[in-house]
Amino acid sequence: MPSSNQKERTLKEKMQRSLPLIIMLLALILVIGVTVVTCVKAIGGTSNKTTTPQQPIEVHPVTETAIIQTTATTTETTKSTTTRATTVAKPKATFAFLAETTTTISLPPRTVSSMELSFYQAVMNVGDAPIFPVVFMIPDDALDIRIKMESSDEAVAVITDDNKISPVGEGNCIIHVSAVANPYATADIAIRVEGKSDSVTTPEMSTPSQTTYTTAIELPEDPEEEEPKIEREDIVVINGITYVKGIMLVNKTYPLPETYNPAGMTPETEQAFKELQQAAKDEAGLNLFSHSDFRSYHTQAVVYEGYCARDGQEEADRYSARAGYSEHQTGMVIDVNDPSYSFNGSPEGEWLAENSWRFGFIVRFPEGKEEYTGYEYEAWHIRYVGKDWAKEIYDSGLCLEEFLDVKSQYP
Ligand code: DAL
Ligand code: ZN
Repeated sequence: MPSSNQKERTLKEKMQRSLPLIIMLLALILVIGVTVVTCVKAIGGTSNKTTTPQQPIEVHPVTETAIIQTTATTTETTKSTTTRATTVAKPKATFAFLAETTTTISLPPRTVSSMELSFYQAVMNVGDAPIFPVVFMIPDDALDIRIKMESSDEAVAVITDDNKISPVGEGNCIIHVSAVANPYATADIAIRVEGKSDSVTTPEMSTPSQTTYTTAIELPEDPEEEEPKIEREDIVVINGITYVKGIMLVNKTYPLPETYNPAGMTPETEQAFKELQQAAKDEAGLNLFSHSDFRSYHTQAVVYEGYCARDGQEEADRYSARAGYSEHQTGMVIDVNDPSYSFNGSPEGEWLAENSWRFGFIVRFPEGKEEYTGYEYEAWHIRYVGKDWAKEIYDSGLCLEEFLDVKSQYP
């Protein structure tokens, strides 16, 4: 019989002989493991790519923007510099590579590359009402068309909180307009302010073909651009957008162009709504929030067609606007909390009816005004018109159509 020492030795010898075999086996297991994991990942990735369904159209513009930006490619025309890269969310690797290694990058699709204004010169008098240019972004389906304005001389003209040019002193100055989405997309307006007039004057605005100026401004005798179309003394239609007494009007008679797209609430609407929310909380303990605000032409088309499919067109037309005819496309409307008939008569709805004017809003489709507005009572749908108009309209007890003496009927 072998002793226990002999047994140990034999075992050790056997193990030493088998060691290379064991190492090889372990290595083989490792290689097989890594290969299997890689394959599983690869199969998973491919199947995600091919089976993820198309996202439905998002109501919220930020989501729309994000979708567009993540699909940006390097094939777009190069327009901007590296500073733009900081504002682009999740670019593709190739996109980021270009931005880091060169001084130029590609603009994401539907980003403003340049702009045109409804006028490039204006002669005003001290004390005139503030004016503002209508801005046409290029491309005309740009997602973010917000602008920023700066005055070269605030002793002559200042920019009001709601982006209007207000004359304050005699002299000349330049108003520099730039796109928030791309500060390299700019245009200048030359302003001449003359002394205070004895009577109320209307600023003269014009659109010369060139946009560089010296301090002296000469108005062209024969402007090349089309003059705004005057339909009624107080109705002006500029490139398909209707203003009555300076209020942008959108209803069943007055649509917006498909391309009109502020890509979100206008800054003044957003600010006014924040103030309204705070007051509702402080004064009445109410929590008001935006359920839905800006909707693009195309989002509205989807919304409206959905209602037509559900309720039929005749019924849908009583509560939902056709694409191009919705005020939601202005970026100056908010559906508060709960856009359903249970909101009518609720404490939140009552508070809005009594107080929203203080912040520049009107309840756009009041109770009992369907024959004028074209829509059923919607206590939740508020429209920003600015504090002065909101107070006047509220005090009048009229809906907007009555107040402006306009119709709201589909052609
Ligand atoms: N609900 C209003 C009328 C709209 O769709 O704009
Ligand atoms: Zn609404």
